[in-house]
Amino acid sequence: TVFESPEAAAKALAAEFAELIKSRAAEGKTAVLGLATGSTPLPFYAELIRLHKEEGLSFANVVTFNLDEYSGLPREHKESYWHFMHENLFNHIDIPAENVNLPSGTVAEADVPAHCDEYEKAIVAAGGIDFQILGIGRTGHIGFNEPGSPKDSRTRAIHLDEITRQDAAPAFDGIDNVPTSAITMGCGTILDAKKIVLMSWGEKKAAITKEAVQGPISDQVSASFLQEHPDARFFVDTAAASLL
Ligand code: GLP
Repeated sequence: TVFESPEAAAKALAAEFAELIKSRAAEGKTAVLGLATGSTPLPFYAELIRLHKEEGLSFANVVTFNLDEYSGLPREHKESYWHFMHENLFNHIDIPAENVNLPSGTVAEADVPAHCDEYEKAIVAAGGIDFQILGIGRTGHIGFNEPGSPKDSRTRAIHLDEITRQDAAPAFDGIDNVPTSAITMGCGTILDAKKIVLMSWGEKKAAITKEAVQGPISDQVSASFLQEHPDARFFVDTAAASLL
């Protein structure tokens, strides 16, 4: 779906989330949301906060799982995804702290496989992800599933691509400060979500958006796997859609 602006897309998407959250609350059930970081989802989070503050949307029955986290960053680091999510969403809504899940950036290397396994099990125990949002990296990654990530990959440690690290360099005041690895949900973990929307804004994302939507399905562009998902959509603005 092509929208005239990121804000218009974010509003439409937030309305779908609000519907899901409210219908689950009416049944006394939880809504399990898969969340993403980066600049792309910011207008979406702003709209969720507005719905909470101005329209009384409650997140008391919401459980969240984030896609990924940088390795080596403690929660309080300003670039950790834990910090990002609290600053840009969780601190402004009524979600119970125990309902928030992110991979850990500080788990000892030897404990990473067990940590990833627990993350997968927690998603299953919560009933699976009802609705997953995604951004897209210039390498075509979803989460941090860099080129070469298999379609059936699960939550695991991943080495970050040079392009990904370059894109993150300004936020970290230089590429030398950007972590070299991360923990990410796998492509298989993401594709297990019942419903998925990938958001993409701006001219800089036009080429990779075209590859993801119209290119071959390949592990070189992990977002292309969405083409085979029964309920995955791309929400794009006119600039990101310019090469479609
Ligand atoms: C990071 C995140 C991705 C995100 C991507 C794009 O790599 N792990 O989930 O989609 O950045 O970032 P931005 O939205 O700032 O363009």
